[in-house]
Amino acid sequence: MAKIALYGATGTIGARVLREALGRGHRVTAVVRDPARCPDRPGAAVVRGDVLDPVSVAGAAAGQDVVVSAIGPGTGDPAVLVTAVKSLIGGICTLAPAASRPRLITVGGSGSLRAPDGSPLWQAPGVPEAMRTVMHAHADALDFLLTVPLEEVRWTCLSPPAQIEPGERTGTYRLALDDLVVDGAGRSRISAEDYAVALLDEIDRDAHAGRRFTVGA
Ligand SMILES: NC(=O)c1ccc[n+]([C@@H]2O[C@H](COP(=O)([O-])OP(=O)(O)OC[C@H]3O[C@@H](n4cnc5c(N)ncnc54)[C@H](OP(=O)(O)O)[C@@H]3O)[C@@H](O)[C@H]2O)c1
Repeated sequence: MAKIALYGATGTIGARVLREALGRGHRVTAVVRDPARCPDRPGAAVVRGDVLDPVSVAGAAAGQDVVVSAIGPGTGDPAVLVTAVKSLIGGICTLAPAASRPRLITVGGSGSLRAPDGSPLWQAPGVPEAMRTVMHAHADALDFLLTVPLEEVRWTCLSPPAQIEPGERTGTYRLALDDLVVDGAGRSRISAEDYAVALLDEIDRDAHAGRRFTVGA
Protein backbone atom coordinates (compact mmCIF):
# COMPACT_ATOMS: atom_id res chain seq x y z
CA MET A 1 0.00 0.00 0.00
CA ALA A 2 1.38 3.37 -1.02
CA LYS A 3 0.38 6.81 0.19
CA ILE A 4 -0.36 8.87 -2.92
CA ALA A 5 -1.07 12.59 -3.29
CA LEU A 6 -2.94 13.13 -6.56
CA TYR A 7 -3.27 16.46 -8.40
CA GLY A 8 -5.90 16.58 -11.16
CA ALA A 9 -8.32 14.09 -9.60
CA THR A 10 -11.27 15.99 -11.09
CA GLY A 11 -9.94 15.55 -14.63
CA THR A 12 -10.56 12.83 -17.22
CA ILE A 13 -7.28 11.02 -16.61
CA GLY A 14 -6.91 11.90 -12.93
CA ALA A 15 -10.33 10.46 -12.08
CA ARG A 16 -9.27 7.10 -13.62
CA VAL A 17 -5.97 7.21 -11.77
CA LEU A 18 -7.89 7.83 -8.55
CA ARG A 19 -10.23 4.89 -9.18
CA GLU A 20 -7.39 2.53 -10.14
CA ALA A 21 -5.31 3.53 -7.12
CA LEU A 22 -8.20 3.01 -4.69
CA GLY A 23 -8.99 -0.32 -6.35
CA ARG A 24 -5.45 -1.47 -5.54
CA GLY A 25 -5.79 -0.50 -1.92
CA HIS A 26 -3.53 2.55 -2.01
CA ARG A 27 -4.23 5.44 0.31
CA VAL A 28 -4.99 8.44 -1.91
CA THR A 29 -5.25 12.11 -1.07
CA ALA A 30 -6.76 14.18 -3.87
CA VAL A 31 -5.22 17.65 -3.78
CA VAL A 32 -7.67 19.96 -5.51
CA ARG A 33 -8.35 23.64 -6.01
CA ASP A 34 -12.01 23.28 -5.01
CA PRO A 35 -12.96 20.28 -2.82
CA ALA A 36 -16.64 20.86 -3.65
CA ARG A 37 -15.89 19.85 -7.27
CA CYS A 38 -14.09 16.64 -6.40
CA PRO A 39 -16.13 13.50 -7.06
CA ASP A 40 -17.11 11.59 -3.96
CA ARG A 41 -14.77 8.60 -3.77
CA PRO A 42 -15.12 6.51 -0.63
CA GLY A 43 -11.64 5.82 0.65
CA ALA A 44 -10.01 8.96 -0.75
CA ALA A 45 -9.12 11.98 1.32
CA VAL A 46 -9.67 15.36 -0.30
CA VAL A 47 -7.64 18.42 0.62
CA ARG A 48 -7.39 21.89 -0.84
CA GLY A 49 -4.03 22.71 -2.45
CA ASP A 50 -2.34 24.77 -5.12
CA VAL A 51 -0.02 22.91 -7.47
CA LEU A 52 1.48 26.24 -8.56
CA ASP A 53 2.67 27.09 -5.02
CA PRO A 54 5.78 25.15 -3.85
CA VAL A 55 4.92 25.78 -0.19
CA SER A 56 1.47 24.27 -0.73
CA VAL A 57 3.03 21.34 -2.63
CA ALA A 58 5.47 20.69 0.22
CA GLY A 59 2.57 20.50 2.67
CA ALA A 60 0.64 18.08 0.46
CA ALA A 61 3.69 15.96 -0.36
CA ALA A 62 4.99 15.56 3.19
CA GLY A 63 4.54 12.00 4.41
CA GLN A 64 3.45 10.67 1.00
CA ASP A 65 5.22 7.92 -0.94
CA VAL A 66 4.26 9.23 -4.38
CA VAL A 67 2.94 12.50 -5.79
CA VAL A 68 1.04 12.16 -9.07
CA SER A 69 0.25 15.14 -11.28
CA ALA A 70 -2.52 14.68 -13.83
CA ILE A 71 -3.18 18.38 -14.23
CA GLY A 72 -4.00 19.91 -17.58
CA PRO A 73 -4.38 23.47 -18.83
CA GLY A 74 -7.94 23.03 -20.07
CA THR A 75 -8.62 26.12 -22.18
CA GLY A 76 -6.07 28.15 -20.20
CA ASP A 77 -2.41 28.89 -20.84
CA PRO A 78 -0.49 25.63 -21.53
CA ALA A 79 2.55 27.19 -19.84
CA VAL A 80 0.90 26.20 -16.56
CA LEU A 81 2.27 22.71 -17.22
CA VAL A 82 5.84 24.00 -16.90
CA THR A 83 5.06 26.20 -13.89
CA ALA A 84 3.37 23.24 -12.20
CA VAL A 85 6.23 20.80 -12.66
CA LYS A 86 8.74 23.36 -11.38
CA SER A 87 6.51 24.01 -8.37
CA LEU A 88 6.14 20.28 -7.72
CA ILE A 89 9.89 19.69 -7.84
CA GLY A 90 10.58 22.84 -5.82
CA GLY A 91 8.08 21.90 -3.14
CA ILE A 92 9.19 18.27 -2.86
CA CYS A 93 12.83 19.38 -2.70
CA THR A 94 12.18 21.33 0.51
CA LEU A 95 11.37 18.09 2.34
CA ALA A 96 14.16 16.61 4.40
CA PRO A 97 15.86 14.25 4.51
CA ALA A 98 16.06 13.72 0.74
CA ALA A 99 15.62 9.96 1.20
CA SER A 100 12.16 10.55 2.67
CA ARG A 101 10.89 12.59 -0.30
CA PRO A 102 8.02 11.11 -2.30
CA ARG A 103 8.50 10.05 -5.90
CA LEU A 104 6.87 12.24 -8.56
CA ILE A 105 4.95 10.82 -11.52
CA THR A 106 3.60 13.26 -14.09
CA VAL A 107 1.09 12.76 -16.90
CA GLY A 108 2.97 14.02 -19.94
CA GLY A 109 2.15 14.68 -23.56
CA SER A 110 2.60 12.72 -26.76
CA GLY A 111 3.90 15.53 -29.00
CA SER A 112 7.60 14.87 -28.48
CA LEU A 113 7.26 11.11 -29.04
CA ARG A 114 8.76 9.81 -32.30
CA ALA A 115 6.13 8.90 -34.86
CA PRO A 116 6.78 5.86 -37.08
CA ASP A 117 8.49 8.12 -39.68
CA GLY A 118 10.98 9.23 -36.99
CA SER A 119 9.73 12.79 -36.61
CA PRO A 120 8.09 14.15 -33.45
CA LEU A 121 4.34 13.72 -33.42
CA TRP A 122 3.79 17.49 -33.18
CA GLN A 123 5.12 17.77 -36.75
CA ALA A 124 2.43 15.44 -38.06
CA PRO A 125 0.10 17.05 -40.57
CA GLY A 126 -3.28 18.03 -39.21
CA VAL A 127 -2.27 18.65 -35.60
CA PRO A 128 -4.30 21.72 -34.58
CA GLU A 129 -2.19 24.71 -33.53
CA ALA A 130 -3.76 24.83 -30.04
CA MET A 131 -2.85 21.18 -29.48
CA ARG A 132 0.66 21.80 -30.79
CA THR A 133 1.11 24.50 -28.15
CA VAL A 134 0.08 22.07 -25.39
CA MET A 135 2.46 19.46 -26.83
CA HIS A 136 5.36 21.92 -26.69
CA ALA A 137 4.49 22.87 -23.11
CA HIS A 138 4.58 19.20 -22.11
CA ALA A 139 7.95 18.88 -23.85
CA ASP A 140 9.26 21.91 -21.96
CA ALA A 141 8.04 20.35 -18.69
CA LEU A 142 9.83 17.10 -19.58
CA ASP A 143 13.01 19.01 -20.50
CA PHE A 144 12.92 20.55 -17.03
CA LEU A 145 12.41 17.17 -15.36
CA LEU A 146 15.40 15.81 -17.25
CA THR A 147 17.58 18.34 -15.39
CA VAL A 148 16.43 17.03 -11.98
CA PRO A 149 18.87 14.51 -10.43
CA LEU A 150 17.22 11.39 -9.03
CA GLU A 151 18.94 12.05 -5.69
CA GLU A 152 16.83 15.20 -5.43
CA VAL A 153 13.49 13.80 -6.64
CA ARG A 154 12.82 10.34 -8.05
CA TRP A 155 10.61 11.39 -10.98
CA THR A 156 8.93 9.67 -13.94
CA CYS A 157 6.85 11.07 -16.80
CA LEU A 158 4.25 8.88 -18.53
CA SER A 159 3.26 10.18 -21.97
CA PRO A 160 -0.11 9.06 -23.31
CA PRO A 161 -0.32 7.85 -26.90
CA ALA A 162 -1.81 10.12 -29.58
CA GLN A 163 -5.38 9.37 -28.48
CA ILE A 164 -6.66 8.75 -24.97
CA GLU A 165 -10.28 8.77 -23.99
CA PRO A 166 -12.61 7.12 -21.49
CA GLY A 167 -13.32 3.51 -22.37
CA GLU A 168 -12.81 -0.05 -21.27
CA ARG A 169 -10.34 -1.25 -18.65
CA THR A 170 -8.68 -4.25 -20.30
CA GLY A 171 -5.66 -4.27 -17.99
CA THR A 172 -3.31 -4.71 -20.94
CA TYR A 173 -1.07 -2.25 -22.75
CA ARG A 174 2.26 -2.04 -24.55
CA LEU A 175 5.21 0.09 -23.40
CA ALA A 176 7.83 2.14 -25.22
CA LEU A 177 10.28 4.83 -24.20
CA ASP A 178 10.38 7.73 -26.68
CA ASP A 179 8.58 6.09 -29.62
CA LEU A 180 4.86 6.42 -30.11
CA VAL A 181 3.10 3.08 -29.53
CA VAL A 182 1.16 2.30 -32.71
CA ASP A 183 -1.03 -0.73 -33.40
CA GLY A 184 -1.12 -2.84 -36.55
CA ALA A 185 -3.71 -0.53 -38.09
CA GLY A 186 -1.52 2.53 -37.52
CA ARG A 187 -3.55 3.81 -34.58
CA SER A 188 -1.93 5.16 -31.44
CA ARG A 189 -4.44 5.08 -28.64
CA ILE A 190 -5.44 3.80 -25.21
CA SER A 191 -8.41 4.06 -22.92
CA ALA A 192 -7.95 6.40 -19.96
CA GLU A 193 -8.69 3.34 -17.79
CA ASP A 194 -5.77 1.34 -19.22
CA TYR A 195 -3.52 4.39 -19.04
CA ALA A 196 -4.35 4.50 -15.32
CA VAL A 197 -3.43 0.80 -15.04
CA ALA A 198 -0.02 1.56 -16.56
CA LEU A 199 0.51 4.54 -14.26
CA LEU A 200 -0.38 2.50 -11.17
CA ASP A 201 1.88 -0.32 -12.39
CA GLU A 202 4.69 2.28 -12.49
CA ILE A 203 3.85 3.32 -8.94
CA ASP A 204 3.99 -0.32 -7.85
CA ARG A 205 7.13 -1.28 -9.85
CA ASP A 206 9.22 1.92 -10.00
CA ALA A 207 10.62 0.83 -13.37
CA HIS A 208 11.21 4.16 -15.16
CA ALA A 209 12.83 6.52 -12.65
CA GLY A 210 14.47 9.54 -14.25
CA ARG A 211 12.89 9.14 -17.63
CA ARG A 212 9.78 9.42 -19.76
CA PHE A 213 7.98 6.38 -21.09
CA THR A 214 4.76 5.84 -22.98
CA VAL A 215 1.96 3.32 -23.42
CA GLY A 216 -0.52 2.26 -26.04
CA ALA A 217 -3.09 -0.43 -26.70
N1 LIG B 1 -2.26 12.53 -26.33
C1 LIG B 1 -1.81 13.24 -25.30
O1 LIG B 1 -0.63 13.53 -25.20
C2 LIG B 1 -2.76 13.69 -24.24
C3 LIG B 1 -4.10 13.46 -24.39
C4 LIG B 1 -4.94 13.85 -23.36
C5 LIG B 1 -4.42 14.49 -22.22
N2 LIG B 1 -3.10 14.71 -22.13
C6 LIG B 1 -2.56 15.42 -20.95
O2 LIG B 1 -2.98 14.76 -19.77
C7 LIG B 1 -3.23 15.70 -18.74
C8 LIG B 1 -4.62 15.45 -18.14
O3 LIG B 1 -5.57 15.54 -19.18
P1 LIG B 1 -7.12 15.47 -18.87
O4 LIG B 1 -7.81 15.31 -20.19
O5 LIG B 1 -7.38 14.50 -17.79
O6 LIG B 1 -7.38 16.96 -18.35
P2 LIG B 1 -8.73 17.60 -17.79
O7 LIG B 1 -9.85 16.63 -17.84
O8 LIG B 1 -8.87 18.93 -18.48
O9 LIG B 1 -8.39 17.84 -16.25
C9 LIG B 1 -7.41 18.74 -15.90
C10 LIG B 1 -7.17 18.67 -14.41
O10 LIG B 1 -6.14 19.60 -14.08
C11 LIG B 1 -6.56 20.33 -12.95
N3 LIG B 1 -5.92 21.64 -12.97
C12 LIG B 1 -5.83 22.50 -13.98
N4 LIG B 1 -5.14 23.59 -13.62
C13 LIG B 1 -4.81 23.39 -12.34
C14 LIG B 1 -4.09 24.15 -11.39
N5 LIG B 1 -3.57 25.35 -11.68
N6 LIG B 1 -3.94 23.64 -10.15
C15 LIG B 1 -4.45 22.43 -9.84
N7 LIG B 1 -5.13 21.65 -10.71
C16 LIG B 1 -5.30 22.14 -11.94
C17 LIG B 1 -8.06 20.43 -13.08
O11 LIG B 1 -8.60 20.71 -11.82
P3 LIG B 1 -9.90 21.62 -11.58
O12 LIG B 1 -11.04 20.65 -11.38
O13 LIG B 1 -9.58 22.38 -10.35
O14 LIG B 1 -10.06 22.49 -12.79
C18 LIG B 1 -8.39 19.03 -13.57
O15 LIG B 1 -8.48 18.13 -12.49
C19 LIG B 1 -3.08 17.08 -19.38
O16 LIG B 1 -1.83 17.62 -19.04
C20 LIG B 1 -3.17 16.81 -20.86
O17 LIG B 1 -2.46 17.75 -21.65
C21 LIG B 1 -2.24 14.33 -23.09
